[in-house]
Amino acid sequence: MKAVVDRDVCAGCAVCADMCPDVFEMDSEDKAIVKLDVVPEDAEDSCRDAADACPSEAIQIED
Ligand code: F3S
Repeated sequence: MKAVVDRDVCAGCAVCADMCPDVFEMDSEDKAIVKLDVVPEDAEDSCRDAADACPSEAIQIED
């Protein structure tokens, strides 16, 4: 599974980095970036939860 953040859509609220810090972190422009090419299995649930919780719907999950 992969996660992709659309930087043009991300509003920088950091919910994803709070909910799933293994996968998401904030960069110097206050946009979320994906730290890993492949989401580790034990982070998949929190990653999906973060995508669902993103108020801007900026996170796409690719299975
Ligand atoms: Fe951006 Fe959504 Fe995360 S707005 S900082 S991708 S929760």
